[in-house]
Amino acid sequence: MSTIRMVLRICALASHPLDVARMQHSYPCFRQMSTDAQSIAARLSASGIFRTQGLIGGKWTEAYDGNTIKVHNPATGDVIANVPCMGKRETSDAISSAYDAFNSWSKLTANERSRRLRKWYDLLIAHKEELGQLITLEQGKPLNEAMGEVNYGASFIEFYAEEAKRVYGDIIPATLADRRLFSLKQPVGVVGAITPWNFPLAMITRKVGPALACGCTVVIKPSELTPLTALAAAELSLQAGIPPGVVNVVMGNASDIGDTLLASPQVRKITFTGSTAVGKKLMAGSAATVKKISLELGGNAPCIVFDDADLDVAVKGSLAAKFRNSGQTCVCANRIIVQEGIYEKFANAFANAVQNLKVGNGFTEGVAQGPLINEAAVQKVESFVQDAVSKGAKVMLGGKRHSLGMTFYEPTVISDANSEMLVSREEVFGPVAPLLRFKTEEEAIRIANDTNAGLASYIFTTNVQRSWRVAEALEYGLVGINEGLISTEVAPFGGFKQSGLGREGSKYGIDEYLEIKYVCLGNMDRA
Ligand code: SIN
Repeated sequence: MSTIRMVLRICALASHPLDVARMQHSYPCFRQMSTDAQSIAARLSASGIFRTQGLIGGKWTEAYDGNTIKVHNPATGDVIANVPCMGKRETSDAISSAYDAFNSWSKLTANERSRRLRKWYDLLIAHKEELGQLITLEQGKPLNEAMGEVNYGASFIEFYAEEAKRVYGDIIPATLADRRLFSLKQPVGVVGAITPWNFPLAMITRKVGPALACGCTVVIKPSELTPLTALAAAELSLQAGIPPGVVNVVMGNASDIGDTLLASPQVRKITFTGSTAVGKKLMAGSAATVKKISLELGGNAPCIVFDDADLDVAVKGSLAAKFRNSGQTCVCANRIIVQEGIYEKFANAFANAVQNLKVGNGFTEGVAQGPLINEAAVQKVESFVQDAVSKGAKVMLGGKRHSLGMTFYEPTVISDANSEMLVSREEVFGPVAPLLRFKTEEEAIRIANDTNAGLASYIFTTNVQRSWRVAEALEYGLVGINEGLISTEVAPFGGFKQSGLGREGSKYGIDEYLEIKYVCLGNMDRA
């Protein structure tokens, strides 16, 4: 048994920090985790949701070759757990389990599936605190924000528990008198769901909720950086009475798992949230077996502040749109494009607001900005800032690693940015806000649309006509007007251009998991 796994087995016995201290004394290996992490892990274990194995056909499973990968706390570098490093064989078995389970799950009544999803929602909410802690522990976001993600993630399960009962077909007026025509909606089959680390729960539930609601079964591959939340959610799905094999979780060798999902004719749908580069590979890989695909890929969100904006609303909204999850969301404002008349006032007020964002370990009271996910993320941010400065931008605030070390980066505001800089051309995915300047509405729209991405966009103006005009002109799937936080389970989420295909959430999200079948009943004239 690996050291960490032994630690976690021991953690399962400990429900109180004092128990942890006692065990630490008896088991020196326990010292590999910080005291905070130990007591949180112990509490999580006691709650029964701290799972560190994959889930295949309802069984908690190690990698067949015994290999493991470490899950780290990005705020401290501590190892939280070892999880199995799975590959082709485990994925094939997970697909077979999902394929077998599809037969019975898809045949349950919509009401029955709905009841179990609702139970899953109730359990997610009942375990909100532990799930929030788990998200902070493995992903780093502040605890309040992590709890917000639990609400957000659970809301997709609640919403689709309700939508399960509303998958209607049609009766179509026939063109011949002896015929009756119908369309039925049926589940597509086994779904491969590949999910990212920035929302370890919500990006899973946004896919699995609609999939299960209409009768599909799933093989989830969570990010290797944040698998523990996925495993906890899967444990709760079993407790909710969702049958073994309906939800499977494999993690480890990303390309082996991805290739196996793509190659299998039994997998009828791939749904992915992540980078545009990986999305393109999955799209190409799905062609061989002509799978249905939904892709939620990278953004390059413009946040346009017009001269006529309410300054407080614009600062508050831009701050939220930029610094949510330390800038690590696909809908984060990537370019703040400010009209020349309000530019100086906005830049100063915005920089003041950013200065007040407290950086630190997500478990510390009052922290608004956690660490970035890993060293590679920090290096990317550093190179983007260097590139901007070398091309004439000025650092108003931040612009370097935080004195806390690890992967903490100072919330940063850069003025005099332009469209040639990397910070404007690509998604920075970190706490860096470049401010660009524009003169006219036409110019703002041109700058905003000058990208291959098209996920989220934001406008700040008090002019109603302008808000409609600009919203219609923006080549984006989401537009926030005078608001920086716009994601919700009831609205369609998805991108134009290279930001993806399909929509998640809302009444539209379930269509991505359904096939439409046309049925023609002939010879009605016969007795
Ligand atoms: C994402 O970053 O991919 C999702 C953000 C959201 O759901 O608001």
